[in-house]
Amino acid sequence: MSAPNIETIVSLSKRRGFVYPASDIYGGLGSSWDYGPLGVELANSIKNSWWRWVVYERDDIEGLDSAIIQNRLVWKYSGHEATFSDPLVDCRDCKTRLREDKLDKNDDGKLVCSNCGSTNLTESRPFNLMFRTTVGAASSDDDESALAYLRPETAQGIFTNFVNVLNTSRRKLPFGIAQIGKAFRNEVTPGNFIFRTREFEQMEIEYFCRPEDAPAIHQEWLDGFDQWIGSLGVSASNLKHYEQTKEELAHYSERTVDILYRFFPEREDESKQWDELMGIANRTDYDLRVHSKKPEDAEGKRINSDSTEDLSYFDPQTNERFYPYIIEPSTGVNRTLLAVMMDAYEERTNDKGEVRVILKLKPELAPIKAAVLPLAKNKPEIVEMARKIKKDLQPSMRAVYDDTGGIGKLYARQDEIGTPFCVTVDHESLVDNAVTVRDRDTWNQDRVAVDALKSYLAERLG
Ligand code: GAP
Repeated sequence: MSAPNIETIVSLSKRRGFVYPASDIYGGLGSSWDYGPLGVELANSIKNSWWRWVVYERDDIEGLDSAIIQNRLVWKYSGHEATFSDPLVDCRDCKTRLREDKLDKNDDGKLVCSNCGSTNLTESRPFNLMFRTTVGAASSDDDESALAYLRPETAQGIFTNFVNVLNTSRRKLPFGIAQIGKAFRNEVTPGNFIFRTREFEQMEIEYFCRPEDAPAIHQEWLDGFDQWIGSLGVSASNLKHYEQTKEELAHYSERTVDILYRFFPEREDESKQWDELMGIANRTDYDLRVHSKKPEDAEGKRINSDSTEDLSYFDPQTNERFYPYIIEPSTGVNRTLLAVMMDAYEERTNDKGEVRVILKLKPELAPIKAAVLPLAKNKPEIVEMARKIKKDLQPSMRAVYDDTGGIGKLYARQDEIGTPFCVTVDHESLVDNAVTVRDRDTWNQDRVAVDALKSYLAERLG
């Protein structure tokens, strides 16, 4: 089982402290979200899992953290200034602003407003998605010489650092550069909770290789990401691949495969249940060429008259100089978190007929690994023992102490936030120096000696 819809996760997130609407006390700000105590832990665990997998467990990837605000020329030559836009239409009847490419057509082939059903729409016009800002003490907000952008993807900071990383880390092809960071897009129609927002986080790898190796490496990354997403607990039945058509491909891409997740299981039309979790593109040699000073167009004119560097690669074995191809697996942190939460969501009826929510997060992702609960909070010896156990666990795992309710309520609360184990200290514990450990998924209970508790939990948390 997984969540029946995104709304279920929105309400769980707000209730338990995963994600809150941003600026809520001032009425909110469309599609901005703050990550609460549990949400920040879950997001960090997802990022750590990704970083560990790509940077630490492989021999061919270096990490990077490039600036959000770059020289405007980066966005000129990447093509974003000219082409990073969505087709915008306005509904003349209800005044809603819409993305043309997301609208359905009626039987006559006319676009239909998704808000009021009207076909009375304006002509489409491009709307650039980059957020503008000014750098330094600009004379005014329109001062073109101070104009800069918030990056709409982390990728470009990787391309511009290709030669720096190549030289300083003495790499040879194939190798990759990985980066996690915020990206900003002034989306026309953000929505569906954290699925599409104007501020979000990406985990991107730019993997540099010889052109002839690119197709096979592309496939290897696809297989690798299927496995990594699976390792986060997302079931294969809620994932599928989508091969972008020639018309859909970005101008730089030879092949792009999206990994889709079933974000909208409530939709009757099965084909509309899916949307993009991440994409893996073969970007060819486009990026390193456009940021290099040497390449010329058909008329012999430099395509980049501002770059001071040539981002080509010299292969000492073949004595060839060329621009490497790039395979780019690009993943959204926020969409991954949403998919992980939706897939982990389960409802179960207990023997009293009450419906309980269990978030079956993989133990390594669970924000809290163990909750230590005193059975009687008015018995000082029990409270003291429980607090000591929590303190002893703390250096090796995130543990909490909670005595703010009856034991049934405390268990339910921990199940709902995905805590794999509850450790209960009872009257008997004072005699046998043992505790009851309850498993979130099976609700089975084991009696475990306090001395053996750390290793018992460590073994099961993996
Ligand atoms: N460098 C390539 C690139 O940025 P993209 O398909 O535009 O490709 C990659 O974005 C991933 O970033 C998406 O698959 C998605 O997970 C995430 N993403 C993109 N726009 C987003 C938005 N507005 N809100 C949340 N996540 C977004």
